[in-house]
Amino acid sequence: MGMPWIDLRSDTVTHPTPAMRRAMAEAEVGDDVYGEDPTVGRLEEMAAERMGKQAALFVPSGTMANLAAILAHCGRGEEVILGDVSHTFLYEAGGSAAVAGVHPRTLPNLRDGTLDLAAIEEAIRPDDPNHPVTRLICLENTHNRCGGSVLSVEYTRRVGELASRHGLRLHLDGARIFNAAVALGVPARELADPVDSVSFCLSKALCAPVGSLLCGDEAFIGRARRARKLLGGGMRQAGILAAAGIVALEEMVDRLAEDHARARRLAEVLRELPGLSLEWDPPPTNMLYLRFGEKAKINARETVDAMRARGIRLSALTDDRMRLVVHYWIDDGALEQVIGAFAALLG
Ligand SMILES: Cc1ncc(COP(=O)(O)O)c(C=O)c1O
Repeated sequence: MGMPWIDLRSDTVTHPTPAMRRAMAEAEVGDDVYGEDPTVGRLEEMAAERMGKQAALFVPSGTMANLAAILAHCGRGEEVILGDVSHTFLYEAGGSAAVAGVHPRTLPNLRDGTLDLAAIEEAIRPDDPNHPVTRLICLENTHNRCGGSVLSVEYTRRVGELASRHGLRLHLDGARIFNAAVALGVPARELADPVDSVSFCLSKALCAPVGSLLCGDEAFIGRARRARKLLGGGMRQAGILAAAGIVALEEMVDRLAEDHARARRLAEVLRELPGLSLEWDPPPTNMLYLRFGEKAKINARETVDAMRARGIRLSALTDDRMRLVVHYWIDDGALEQVIGAFAALLG
């Protein structure tokens, strides 16, 4: 029960591992909306412990985790400061505005995924009835559109201090926080320590089929639980899903270093091919953003088509850009096949 394709479009394409399928089949379950699913309870306790927070909430997706966080932190008409290429701003269907009534104030993400501290400070609204009230800052770690870049503990701490100085809340979209923690060699809770809330995904590089966790203090998680219900995310015998999440946390975190090493190995070969270059070089974590210059034999979209015929799935962002993501199902054999196919098409 592996993966039928060599698929580097995303780490969200990962199938559950055999250990996850076994745990799902055997999971003890109850009605989680009644708070009676023991497996969900166990997963939430593990998540809270991993993030160093009082409590956690199991939700169906990273998008819902971030939206529930915004609903739990902000009132209607208040403002959230976030990056202009953050996932929450670009790819979550505008939920902060459409559902939460929260006004997004975007600041340019720097190449390393950070927001400039002075720019954050300047964006905070004065106490003036003409302005919305600034309530929340959101960061993303690792930063998807910034090459899978890692925000450091020190940077996160500085934003945390800035937020407390101004009475603001700080949320971290840590969809891939374990990739960041493994890359830095620190426990994830150090990256989560300066923030009021953190979300992370089980269904990306950790291979679980469904689910994210939102973590914070008891009062925040209480509000987030109501938001989850409002959003339709109250699930019943969700222990079937949480069981895979427990395996993800127990078995799939430390091995992320292998994905990062394979991403670097892929980079070593691709950067030598005519016309190809990496936008973030070396790749910070498990993603490669590849640029196809004039000297490339074929462009990014043509490469996607040609690779498909070889059993390899890739996705082009434009004619000259591509993102490749390495994950559990890209083992050394698959990696060598990908390298061979690139060399044949573009060498
Ligand atoms: C950084 C980041 N945050 C949030 C999400 C949303 O997760 P989901 O697809 O589970 O809604 C993603 C998904 O790719 C992501 O990359």
